Parts: sequence; C-alpha cells; structure tokens
Amino acid sequence: MSQYPLGKKKVFKPVGSLSPSVQKNPDSFLLSCLLQASPNYVSGNYIAERLKMSRVGIWARVDKLRKAGLLIEASQNRGYRLSAEPNLLVRPLLEAWLKECGIDYPFFLLENTDSTNSEAERLLANGQETPFVVISHQQETGRGRRGRKWHSPKGGNLYLSIALKPNVALVKFRNFTLWQGVSIGKFLKNHTGIESLSVKWPNDLICENKKIGGMLTEASIDCDQVRSMVFGIGLNVNSSTSHFPNDIRESSTSLMEISGTSWRIHELTAKIIKVSLQASQECLDGKADHMLVTEWEKMDFLLGKKVKFQNGIKTFSGTASGIDNSGGLIITSKDGKVQIAHAGEVSLIR
Ligand code: BTN
Repeated sequence: MSQYPLGKKKVFKPVGSLSPSVQKNPDSFLLSCLLQASPNYVSGNYIAERLKMSRVGIWARVDKLRKAGLLIEASQNRGYRLSAEPNLLVRPLLEAWLKECGIDYPFFLLENTDSTNSEAERLLANGQETPFVVISHQQETGRGRRGRKWHSPKGGNLYLSIALKPNVALVKFRNFTLWQGVSIGKFLKNHTGIESLSVKWPNDLICENKKIGGMLTEASIDCDQVRSMVFGIGLNVNSSTSHFPNDIRESSTSLMEISGTSWRIHELTAKIIKVSLQASQECLDGKADHMLVTEWEKMDFLLGKKVKFQNGIKTFSGTASGIDNSGGLIITSKDGKVQIAHAGEVSLIR
C-alpha cells in the first residue's frame, strides 16, 4: 500500500462539465474526482448530483472500488477521500490516471506473462491497433539486453511495454532507446527528487551506482523501415531488493530504497507512459536527434569514468567522454585516441 498524505478538512468540488465518456463510465468520474481532490475530500453530494445518482448508489460504487484494492475513507460531513492505493496495479485507478494524463490508448493489464514485450508482439501479430500498452504484475521470463534475464517478481515493480507502428526510416529511430532513457530518467528525477538518478549507456537507469531500471527495444524492420516496435521498461519502484537473487542483489536498487518512501505506482505508470509516448513523437519530429547529446550529458553516469568496452570482436578501454550524434559511446584512451563503441558491453574499471 502507498499511503496518501493526510487529508485536510477542505472539501473539493471539481469544475467543468461531464464529458460523454465520463457519463458512460461513472466509476471513472468518481475516481477522477477522488484523484483531483486528493489528499482532500470530495463531497458525496456533489458526485451524486453530477452522476444523477442517489448517495446510496455512490456508496455502492465506492465499495466496489474498495474491493478492487483502493483505500477510500468516508466522512459524514466531508465525503470521500483516497487515502492509499495498492502496490499492485488495479485497472480503474490506472485508467483514471491515464485519463488525467490525457492518454486514451488501449492497455492490457495482466496478472502474469512470460514477458510483456513478447505479449505485445503477439498482440501485434494478431492485428491489435497501435499504440497500445501491456503491463504485467510479474513476468516468468522477463528479458533484458543481450539475452539476459530481467528479474520480475510480483509486487511493487513496473513491467511495461509500449507497441508502436511508426512506419518510418530506421535512421529516425536510431537513438530511440537512448532518448527514451534520458526522457524517462529526467522525468523520474523531477518526480521523485532523487538527484543521483542517471542514465548508463546504453539502456540502464542508475541510482547511487546501482541499477534501478532497464529498457529493451525490439523492432521489426523491413527494407530499412521500422514497421513495428516494442519498447519495454522494467523499473524497481516499491520493492525491496534484499529478496533479489544473489547475483544482482548488491547491484540493484529501487526508488523506495533510495528515497525511503513508497511511490504511487498508478500515477508513476501513467506518467511514464505519457513521457515515453512523447519521446517517441520527438524521435519522429527530429527533436531527439537534435537534443540527445546535450541532454544525455546532463545525466550521463559514465562521463569521465574509466571503462572497458567489449563486443566479441574488439576490446578497448579508456575514459568515457559522452556520446556522439549516432548514439555511440565515446571512449578516449590514455594516448588520446578516440574510439566509438556501438552495440556491446561496457563495464567500469575500478
Ligand atoms: C536491460 O536492462 O537489459 C533491459 C531490461 C528490460 C526489462 C523490461 S521489463 C518489461 C519488458 N519486458 C521484458 O521482457 N523486458 C522489458
């Protein structure tokens, strides 16, 4: 459970008229009111009037949301208030947050799957319209870069994939994952206030020298055109890494471990989806290519550190000196020779 701050006595009345979708879905209206009012109360009378329902009818809807895992406090004089939300995503609350973020694309919320990226690929193969989002509470065989596993236990973490059909030249998307990294990294830094949040080439999110998240983009390319692509992100949010397997325990962390507080996973998920969709658009617009090098530099974990690069063919080491326009890692050796690393492994030299 993520607790919401204590509610004040103030009672909130949202403004504006009911949209047709809200009229069709009273649960969604009720949740939107609770979210907008949070941490304050929203008047039961107000909701009843707007939805043309009795107060008993509203109470029954609140009860249904409680059964879905939301903690909603009721006060006779003040109305209702969202006081806590579960660590596992629940559909109505995520829907409400997505609406708050202006996102109206389909999303599939699963209890369990092999990998959200694989599930997105299957949906694409079945003709699902894009963009769409796949999220799972856990993954049996979550995967990372270079055939690695992504540890995906149930509870507190985010496993999310976004499927797109950009149908554009590959060159437009050559820096897609790096741009997603800086965009999501920057958002998380602002949202959580965690100053040490940085990006590690090519696809890691890092906090205090430990991995907090990773990204994996898989694309289907045809004659240099990106036909479809699946962008997957795994983020450790409210989990305790003390239960992680031995080989990654010391090198992993979560937002909660760094900040000492738990995070509202529904809000975070909806906002990450928003940022990621914006970042995709920025690749199409050319903004990503234009801004990548400077934005990356602001969050570059490796900048100035001694590193070793290997790609199965060659190995070289030197000082990491940022990235170039094509997204390659610049490594400057002791004798001043500059080499650019593309697909491969980079590790820190201690
Ligand atoms: C990495 O660090 O190598 C990338 C990790 C990417 C993990 C995410 S979790 C959601 C999506 N589904 C997967 O199977 N992988 C990505």
